[in-house]
Amino acid sequence: MSVSRIAILPSDVADRIAAGEVVERPASVVKELVENALDAGATAIDIEVREGGRQWIRISDDGSGMSRDDATLAIARHATSKIRDAEDLVGVKSFGFRGEALPAIGSVSHLTIESAMEDGAGVRVEVSGGTLRGVHAAARRRGTTVTVESLFHNTPARQKFLRGARSEWRAIAELLHTIALVRRDVRFTVTHDGKEQLALPPAPDLVSRVAALWGADAADRFVPVNDVQGIVRVAGLVERPTDVGTGTRRVLVTVNGRAVRDIGIVRAAEAAYHSTIPSGVRPAVLLQLEIPGTEVDVNVHPAKAEVRFRDRWTLERAVERAVRRALGTEESAAVVGMVRHVPAALPPLGQPVGIEMLRQPMPAAPAPLFDHDEPAGPAHDVELAGDVDAAIVVPPLFQFRRTYIAFERPDALVLIDQHSAHERVLYERFLHAFEGGALPSQRLLFPLTLHLSPAEAEVFESEQEALTKLGFEGEAFGGHSISVQSVPAPHPRFDAERCLRETLAALTGDRAPSAHARHTRLIATVACKAAVKSGDILSGEEMRALYVALARTTLPAHDVHGRATILQLGWDELDRRFGRR
Ligand SMILES: Nc1ncnc2c1ncn2[C@@H]1O[C@H](COP(=O)(O)OP(=O)(O)OP(=O)(O)O)[C@@H](O)[C@H]1O
Ligand SMILES: [Mg+2]
Repeated sequence: MSVSRIAILPSDVADRIAAGEVVERPASVVKELVENALDAGATAIDIEVREGGRQWIRISDDGSGMSRDDATLAIARHATSKIRDAEDLVGVKSFGFRGEALPAIGSVSHLTIESAMEDGAGVRVEVSGGTLRGVHAAARRRGTTVTVESLFHNTPARQKFLRGARSEWRAIAELLHTIALVRRDVRFTVTHDGKEQLALPPAPDLVSRVAALWGADAADRFVPVNDVQGIVRVAGLVERPTDVGTGTRRVLVTVNGRAVRDIGIVRAAEAAYHSTIPSGVRPAVLLQLEIPGTEVDVNVHPAKAEVRFRDRWTLERAVERAVRRALGTEESAAVVGMVRHVPAALPPLGQPVGIEMLRQPMPAAPAPLFDHDEPAGPAHDVELAGDVDAAIVVPPLFQFRRTYIAFERPDALVLIDQHSAHERVLYERFLHAFEGGALPSQRLLFPLTLHLSPAEAEVFESEQEALTKLGFEGEAFGGHSISVQSVPAPHPRFDAERCLRETLAALTGDRAPSAHARHTRLIATVACKAAVKSGDILSGEEMRALYVALARTTLPAHDVHGRATILQLGWDELDRRFGRR
């Protein structure tokens, strides 16, 4: 007699296995239940948790509620009110659509659903270990309360994988923060072990929710992103470059209102910080993407934590550009006094400007000590190339400690670090030249001969092509010597030999992962070595030229190492310190 070795699993076993995919830990239960409440149109959701959710979770909402029949049906597998057929999956707007969360939770806990479609008559459905234990009438207000007790009581293996209550609670809190950021229209209260943890009224915008969750200081660290490119809309908040690395790093990406884990989008946002922050530190980013539903598949992950895009590349580029623009706005705000036509830096009508601008509207300019409207003279000292942009008004500039250039704006005293600023200017110019051809170089009457270390000679050889693009033309001859015929001429003080030597020395032992990264590093190094140094006395003309050139860069507020080029001390602050107010 042959014994069949394969058998169809009983449905309760199958349910428990499936439950493992949706319900991993208490935080997943909270996620499913809160999403159900949101799908039901709730405007207020109360979340109560005990012992990190291991013992007890209760979610109450004021949403649509369920009829007696629906509440009973809801615990059956694949019972959903949200889609009817496969086509509805395309562009599905609700969080849920699989009809598996409640049955999955019910199969691994004691689950009670109390619900009413209007105040008064309601129903209570009880399930334990996947079995319906009772359906009773229960009076209550409109909405639904779902209680989950003794999670995983019947799956000891899974229970063993749970962390301590504190750790499970942290996961729940983190999840709730994410949801609260996404659904700012909803009031949330959260208690853990009887202590109120969060009480969030509806918030008008993301900044307010951030402030309510993490404090006003945290909200101040961000600049708003708001950009539409083709079919992609990118909104949200990104950390100001000067603040990156100094606080908790928070990351949130939502796609059409759904929080997702997507490292590609985060990386794209980070790429936008390129050269404004030191490498290795990572910015906080809260990004909300809107794309047509047909462009994204949300049904690829058991807990819907990941999505698949039809055109990831376009999306990531859109994110990068949006963030870049946001940072540009921020920096324009920081150097707003440098540009006469401020509106060029403003986002489209109705969109928030940099937080800083919102908080401190620019006071009317005080009577200037000198004539601020005097246009910049021709810039031929620091900056050889280019005529001066008439839109840029150069205020009187003063050099201090052979290092800083100071000037005043209506709301602040501003200091520029001459080296960092010049480095930023040259970096952008070199980068531009590098991408678009070669930089004008100067043929030397007598070629320079440089004796290098073996490692430096190796750098020279491997980077020869890139160096040529930057204006250093030369060739190796015997041993470790090179002969240089042409050098770039970014400004009259430029010491080509020293720059090349220092660059080659700086790049020895540099193992950049890609050609792109290597070139960027090379350009940044040349820019750094080519820039005027602290200790150089600058003439008035040179300072003015530097000011104008800096104002015309895309990221004026940071040098290539991510250090600030500009600092400002508000008159308010100064007045306060002098006890004037
Ligand atoms: N808080 C609630 N208020 C009103 N109806 C609810 C609530 N929770 C669940 N339901 C109803 O129960 C059904 C089943 O919920 P369940 O979470 O199991 O599936 P789903 O949300 O449709 O899909 P998914 O498994 O993807 O979450 C829902 O489709 C909805 O009709
Ligand atoms: Mg659901």
